[in-house]
Amino acid sequence: MTISWYPGHMYKAKKEMIKTMTSTDVLIEVLDARSPQASSNPLLEEIRGKVPCLKILNKADLADPQTTESWHRHFSKRKDSLCIVNGKDKQIEKKDILKLCKQLIPKDSYQFQKQYHIMIAGIPNVGKSTLLNNILSRKVANTGNEPAITKGQQRVRLENNWYLVDTPGLLWPKLEDQEAAYRLAFMGTIRNTAIEAEDIAWFGAEYLLENHYAAIEKRYRLEQRPADAEQLLTAIAKFRACVGKKGRVDWHKTAEVLLNDYRSGKLGRMSLEPAPSSS
Ligand code: G4P
Repeated sequence: MTISWYPGHMYKAKKEMIKTMTSTDVLIEVLDARSPQASSNPLLEEIRGKVPCLKILNKADLADPQTTESWHRHFSKRKDSLCIVNGKDKQIEKKDILKLCKQLIPKDSYQFQKQYHIMIAGIPNVGKSTLLNNILSRKVANTGNEPAITKGQQRVRLENNWYLVDTPGLLWPKLEDQEAAYRLAFMGTIRNTAIEAEDIAWFGAEYLLENHYAAIEKRYRLEQRPADAEQLLTAIAKFRACVGKKGRVDWHKTAEVLLNDYRSGKLGRMSLEPAPSSS
């Protein structure tokens, strides 16, 4: 099954983002640490132009720490961007954000009287609102996954002449690469798509069999290695009582079990995407 968005969503989000970028001095791009490439929309690179960027590898509590470290190194190589890791186990604070944002403004261009604006952006469900709430120590308006609102935009003073735009900028993920789309669906980053839970779980089962056998062997007490995704899902169904009266597997229930286990970290901290090999 193909995962896609309506082009209208993309168009609207891009238009809003271009407007917002004209008054932005530092852009914060929130990525999912488990799959930073898939959770990044390349359009943002294009729209930000020369605006420096702080990349936040978010939900790092769910990702493999070594892989996250490699991604951190990878994203820290560029001159106009910095990277920081955030997660439920180790949350960044306002002072960390300010320190890095200040580093991103070239010293020779810094103006004392200017007001500096920071905007947080990213695809839905990467944790933008949660991050804003943590930084501002209050609940920001629920944006309901609408693109950044440019009219009457709210901003909050962080310190002296530094402000944070308190509406997260939203970009839809780019779903041309179906492998990346399935990764996002498996993590729960894209929701309410036409894609069935069973399809996503099938993808996840194949991935876990190939890359994280020890974790699933332990979690589902597998006695022998399943040959394929179907065998693995059948074993999970039996172990978690997702089998009907006549011995028929309830594939939907089984899929939900696997997806919940992965998304909540019960299978352990797992990344879905290695950093480029030179990192
Ligand atoms: P968004 O603004 O980018 O759309 O994302 P939002 O902050 O709404 O977060 C999406 C989901 O990700 C929320 O879970 C949130 O709790 C979770 N989340 C955010 N940051 C982190 C993190 O660092 N680690 C982990 N493990 N989860 C994080 P939810 O189930 O959709 O909602 P709720 O159960 O929190 O109400």
